[in-house]
Order: sequence, then structure tokens, then C-alpha cells
Amino acid sequence: MRLGVYYYPDHWPEKRWSRDFDLMEEANIEIVKTAEFAWTKMEPEKGEFNFSWLERAIDELSDRGIRVVLGTPTAAPPAWIINNDESILPVDEKGNRTSFGARRHYCPNHPGYKEHTRRIVDAMGAKFGDDNNILGWVIDNELHGSCYCEYCKSEFHEWLKEKYETLDRLNESWGTEFWSQTYTDWSQIPTPKATTIRGAHNPGLHLDYYRFISDSWVKYQQLQIDVLEPLIDNQWITHNSMFRNYNGIDYSKLNNNLDLVSWDNYPLLTGQREDSSVAEAHDMARGLGGTGYWVMEQQSGPAGWQSMAKTPQEGQIRLWAYQSIARGADTIIFFRWRTCRTGTEQFWHGVLDHHGEPGRRYQEVKQLGQELDDIGDEIAPEGVPSSVVVIKDYQTLWAFDIQPNSSSMNYNEEISKYHKSLYDQNIPIDEITPRENFENYRFILAPNLYLVSDTLSARLVDFVREGGTLLLSFRSGVKERKSNKVVNTKLPGKLKKLVGATVEDYTTLAKSPWKSDESDELSEKPPMVEFVCQGLSGTVGKASIWVEALNPKQAKPIANYKNGMFDNQPAITINNFGKGQVMYVGTSLTERLHKVLARWMIDQFSLRDTLNTPNGVEAIWRGEHEVLFLLNHNPKAKKVDLTDNFCDLLSGDQRAKIQIPPFGVKVLKRDNN
Ligand code: GAL
Ligand code: ZN
Repeated sequence: MRLGVYYYPDHWPEKRWSRDFDLMEEANIEIVKTAEFAWTKMEPEKGEFNFSWLERAIDELSDRGIRVVLGTPTAAPPAWIINNDESILPVDEKGNRTSFGARRHYCPNHPGYKEHTRRIVDAMGAKFGDDNNILGWVIDNELHGSCYCEYCKSEFHEWLKEKYETLDRLNESWGTEFWSQTYTDWSQIPTPKATTIRGAHNPGLHLDYYRFISDSWVKYQQLQIDVLEPLIDNQWITHNSMFRNYNGIDYSKLNNNLDLVSWDNYPLLTGQREDSSVAEAHDMARGLGGTGYWVMEQQSGPAGWQSMAKTPQEGQIRLWAYQSIARGADTIIFFRWRTCRTGTEQFWHGVLDHHGEPGRRYQEVKQLGQELDDIGDEIAPEGVPSSVVVIKDYQTLWAFDIQPNSSSMNYNEEISKYHKSLYDQNIPIDEITPRENFENYRFILAPNLYLVSDTLSARLVDFVREGGTLLLSFRSGVKERKSNKVVNTKLPGKLKKLVGATVEDYTTLAKSPWKSDESDELSEKPPMVEFVCQGLSGTVGKASIWVEALNPKQAKPIANYKNGMFDNQPAITINNFGKGQVMYVGTSLTERLHKVLARWMIDQFSLRDTLNTPNGVEAIWRGEHEVLFLLNHNPKAKKVDLTDNFCDLLSGDQRAKIQIPPFGVKVLKRDNN
């Protein structure tokens, strides 16, 4: 378990460096991440390189045993590059070229920019590729963004040629006879720029463009990997994925050719409840790369560019670090060391404030560094053993982005609700995409699996036939995965056999997209969902967003609607299939119903038993019942009753009743004596 910080030596006078490095050493900081925005400093003019300042900083750090991770600086192209060729700047949906400034101001398909990229990455690799003080490389920074320039357009055509081979196939797949969009030459195919009617592009074309943009980033990253790989010795390559904020990239593909998965964690920035939504991102990092991933950036102060979010309360920085470790990370780098005095990120606070003197946040990091030094070796290297997995499908996410189906539909939130309902019961759960293997899990949750191919449905059939449990929910199987065409059978399409029921009727419950306001007077109350199965019978709660009336053939209803147009018709079904079972939830559930259902499923499918803890106290194991982490995300102390004998690694205490302070942490080892 190691800690690090982001530090930009180029932002501070050299005579200050030693003070910073001493403070780092005192806090057990072992890693510094740097250089990812220092292109002009490293290459002030084309082909003129200056790494001496960076070498001096690396030397001084290595004197203290601190090793370095380098970022390639391509997220911030220098003014001298852009000034020379403005066509590098990305073009937005309305056709406007964006301006120099901020960052990420480049098109990943621009041939000239690719050349600039190769040159700087090659120079850095040649300089530092065999330096023992360099642990590894981060490519670019949080890749994301879209572009609609002419280069992208012609690359898109190439991408389409590869996918469809002939225009006839493309026309057939997209159904271009609709509104006379048949293409007779590849060059006629537009990028989905703004049209006369917003959001009205052909859904086949539009989804392909999302896929193309995601692939463009994967390819751009690969270009850098290809330059670096031959130049490095014993160093790894990763990318700091931003799972929680940027949804335009399929992170499974992006991480495919990397040595290490890493992601950026700012708990106070997004998410309804930070503990569960951060846990979900950890579960995705682990789902994609296994245990031992890195949190490349972790929040260490109040954050914001123009306005700030709240400052982490006392204990939270430490708590988030332990949460990272508990869920499978083994290195945490705090963003950033000292808060900078200039630039867009003046208010994005680091471990030290602007004045540079150690304060509350530094002391907390230091305490953590000390603790990890003491107990790090006791923490099992194996990860969190989970038999449950939730599938988040980026292609489905994009398809819903193009056509939400219901104006209240939010695919990410649906996924999170299922994840959270099990997280709240301390069930360890991985998150993956359909590209990963799911065959070894026991229980798959695949809410709203909208785009389904023959291959995907066959894999799911095999999984259930062999004894797995699968949960699907409304709008599953609606579309052909490749083309984004609606299937021509009853829903849930290719998943019908598995579900053992069909969708006979459906309606959105949300506001009509064509009306600005819906008067309540005439509209009905939302329908209710009433459970009718053993153990849950009589439990009632609201349906929301969307309702489907299910017609069970082989399946059995476990809940029905009450009131509304589908009164008395099945809302949730369960089907025996092969040696396994399939649940289908025809509506979006409230948090309360999710809780009820989660508890029932844990019982029904004997999911792994974990501790019962008060609300907001996360309990998770590392290793097969070896080290138990109890994480109190509440601003109040909480008590937990332990059934087994444990020893608190941090205090040496051996008590069965444990009191965890506000935002406090217990790391417990099972006592076998
Ligand atoms: C991250 C980004 C960092 C830094 C930080 C604070 O998302 O990767 O480079 O900008 O946010 O804004
Ligand atoms: Zn472009």
C-alpha cells in the first residue's frame, strides 16, 4: 500500500523544492506524479527539448526514495503548436471550432497532431524509459470529448467501411429509406452535427458515431503506447480513467491494452451519495483490472474551478483512502500537493493550501502514511471476493443518450440503484461491461439491457443454463445491438426465452417531451407495485419512469401493479431456466423497494453473508475473510456488533462491540486463537 501526490516542480521556485520533498518524506509519500501538462516547458520549440528541470526534480526526489510517475503532456497542446495549425482544435456539434485555452483542445484524429504527439512521447520515452526512478507512465489525462471536424468525418467513413464493407449493407442496417437518407457514395455520410430538428439523426448513424469517437480515443491512446513500449524497461503504462464523469468512452476497450487500471476519485464532486457512487467506480476498476489497481487522483481538499464544492471534513481524506484500499486499490495518489496560485485550478485545493505550510489536511495524510506503514503488510493482497456482478454497457448508455425512451430515463442511475441496493447490504459486487467474462460469477444484474446481439444472448443463456441467476429490467432486448434497429419480435426480444414472459404493453410515466407542463388534474396517480411472493407478500411501493405489463408464459409473477392502466398485471417475474433463474423487473423501483428486493434476493439466492451494519457503515473484506474494513461514512459515531473475534490492526483492541468515530475506519483481522 503506497501513497503519492501530484506535484508540479515547474510551478514553484526550485529553492522551495527541498522543503516540499522533506514534508512528503515525513508523511510517507513514496510517489510523485508529474509532467502531464508541461509540454511547453519540455519542448519550447519544435524539436528543441529541455528536460533538465525535470531531471533535477527527479534526482532530488530519488534522494529521498520518492519515485516518479510521468504523464504524457498531450492533454494540453502548447500555443505554438495550435497557432501554427488551428485545424487541430476540435469542432463542436454546431460546427464551430473551439478556442485555444483550457485543455483537451485537440482532435484525436488530426494527422498533424498525431505527429506532434509521436514526437513528444518519443522524446520523453527516450529520455526516461530506462530510468529506475520512473515507475510508469500515464497516457494523456482523462481522455474524453467529441469532435465533428473534417478529419473526423473522413475517419468516420473509413470506420464505417470497415464495419459494413458495402454501402448497401450500411443503408440496410440504418434503414436509410426512412426520410430519404439513402447514401449512394460514402462521402455523403454526415457526422451527427446539429440538424434542423435537435436530436433527430438516424439512430443507427448516431450510435455508430458514438462508437467511432470512443474508438478514436482508444486508437489515439494506442498510438502513444506504440511509441512508448519499445523505449521503456520495467515501467508500466496506464491511463487515469474518469469512470464517474465521462461516459463517452468504453472503458473496457480503453483499458484493454494497458498494464494497469487506474482512475480518478473526487468523492465530493458527483453522485447522490458519495460513499456508494465512489464504491461503484472502485468496483468497476476492479471489475476491469482486478485487485491492485491505482487511484491515480484522489481528492485531498475543497475542489472547484470557478466555485468550490465543500471541503472534506476531518477524517474524510483518510476514510476515502481506506475505502480505496478496502475495495482493491493498492496505491493512492493525492491530487495535488500544494494548491496552485495561478491558472484555472487556483481553487482546486491540494494537501497544502496556497501558503504552503502544513495544516489539517497534511496531518491527516501524514497519519494515514504512518498507519499504512505499520499495517500495510497485513492487508491481504487478494481482492474482494465477489460472486455478484453488475453489467454496465457503454453502448446501451449511448443508445439511451440518443433516445432516452422516457424523458426521465437515466441508465447510469438505474445501474447505480441496483449496485447501491446490494452495496448497502455489504454484498461485494464487481462492475463490468459485456466485453468482460461474466461466466464465473453466480449472479448477474443487467438492468435495461437494451442492445442485445445473438452472441450476448447466447452467453447469457449458457450462464443461466449452467446455474447462474440473471436479473434484467425494463427496456431490455429492445434493439439489435449492431444496428440499433428495434427487434421484430415481442419484447424482450432475444431474451424472451430466458425471461419466460413477454412485454404485452408499456408506457412511460414521465412528462411528455412535447409538452412543457403537464397539468396534474387529469393525470392519474403513479401505479404501485405490490409483491405477491413468499417473504415479500403485501409489500407495496411506487413504480416510476416506465411500466411494462408482463405476460408470464413459463415465468411466475412475484409482483403485480396496483392501480393505473396495468392494474393487476405482473410487474416482476421470475423464471426457472436450465439450472438457473431469471428475474425481470418491468419498471423502475424506488429506493425503498430496491432495499426490500435486495434483501429478498440475498435470501433467495443465498448471496454471500456479510455483516449487518448501520446505514452508511460500509463493511468489506479483502481476501477470503481475512481483513475486514469497517468504514463509517456518517458524521456521527456508529456501533457495530461483531460475531467473530477480531483484532483491530490500528489500535490492537479486541472487542466484539465496536464504536467507529465519525468518518472513522476500523481495519480488523480475524483472530483465530
Ligand atoms: C482531474 C484532472 C486533473 C485536475 C483535477 C482538478 O479530473 O485529471 O488534471 O485537473 O481534475 O481539476
Ligand atoms: Zn476531429
